Amino acid sequence: MSQQSFSFELKNTDNGARLGNISTPRGDIRTPAFMPVGTAATVKGMYPEQVEALGADIILGNTYHLMLRPGAERMAKLGGLHEFAQWKKPILTDSGGFQVMSLAKLRKLNENGVSFKSHIDGSSHLLTPERSIEIQTLLGADIQMQLDECVALPAELSEIKRAMELSVRWAERSKTAFGTQPGHALFGIVQGGDNEVLRLQSAKELTGIGFHGYAVGGLAVGEPQETMFEVLNYTTPALPTDKPRYLMGVGKPDDLLGAVKRGIDMFDCVHPTRAGRHGHAYTRFGVINIKNARHKEDSRPLDEQSPNENCRRFQRAYLHHLMKANEMLGAMLLSQINLAYYQELMQGARAAIAENRYDDYVAETRAGWERGDI
Ligand code: GUN
Repeated sequence: MSQQSFSFELKNTDNGARLGNISTPRGDIRTPAFMPVGTAATVKGMYPEQVEALGADIILGNTYHLMLRPGAERMAKLGGLHEFAQWKKPILTDSGGFQVMSLAKLRKLNENGVSFKSHIDGSSHLLTPERSIEIQTLLGADIQMQLDECVALPAELSEIKRAMELSVRWAERSKTAFGTQPGHALFGIVQGGDNEVLRLQSAKELTGIGFHGYAVGGLAVGEPQETMFEVLNYTTPALPTDKPRYLMGVGKPDDLLGAVKRGIDMFDCVHPTRAGRHGHAYTRFGVINIKNARHKEDSRPLDEQSPNENCRRFQRAYLHHLMKANEMLGAMLLSQINLAYYQELMQGARAAIAENRYDDYVAETRAGWERGDI
């Protein structure tokens, strides 16, 4: 591994959409980038080689899950997350707070951090900004996230404000705990719900502290897409142009296209793999519910012109059969097919931004989805 440091280069902008490159000692991340989610040290149902073959430059791991099982100190003893999962490229880890709020039992949050009981065995744990950074460092994450508090929308303004201000104080503590780790990065997370004043205050304070990149959190938490886009309209212009911006936990293909237009560079979401496990296939012509009876005798592939071999090769009737019979291969193929589509979508966006035709690319892509599967 070279001693090269972490840096971001903005290569072009096209009416708001940005083409860039993050360089890390473990390799480059071409942006806009979609990060497949590997919560428990695996992108569910995929070999690491398959994830790499998709064209993914980076995957995401979760502090919350990995601290509970197998445990951060144990993982470090075993050589760290890259070695454990046999994924050599960059890894970003989320800080844990968001997953504590959605998964853990008996959560108690105060200024110091959040204590909770494991959803696996009921054991007690404490996550502070300092402990989250320590865990992410033990895992060996290339990009670490600050501990934050995300509130679901809709919420009271006072509640959004309290969580945003706490997140800023935790950002400060996270930065101190991170120190300097050459080749590694720490991202701050903008909170503030759907309130412009709070979002701008959060962006300003985080920028003042100074991070290698900035995430927009607290979105895709129950609000309509229109609200999310509106929040991005005023939030991304408040962030430094020379640092990567990451929209956390988003989203569906149409969300990605709209967020790229609003200056976002990075995404992660469980949606493509989760939808695949439920029998939903993403293609150029929209979403196909392969469990639907109309596919029972359909010998056509999902998309005979797809660059992805699995999309051209298997009959719809076969995929239907696998899902109906609960065969592992069904979920595996549809996970691969969906992640491949997400990577094609981002590759297409990058190519279009490079040629200043991003808006046309969005219009053509949406026209394909609207044409539908015929
Ligand atoms: N994943 C999706 N949204 C969020 C958020 O607001 N904070 C964190 N830490 N992770 C997220």
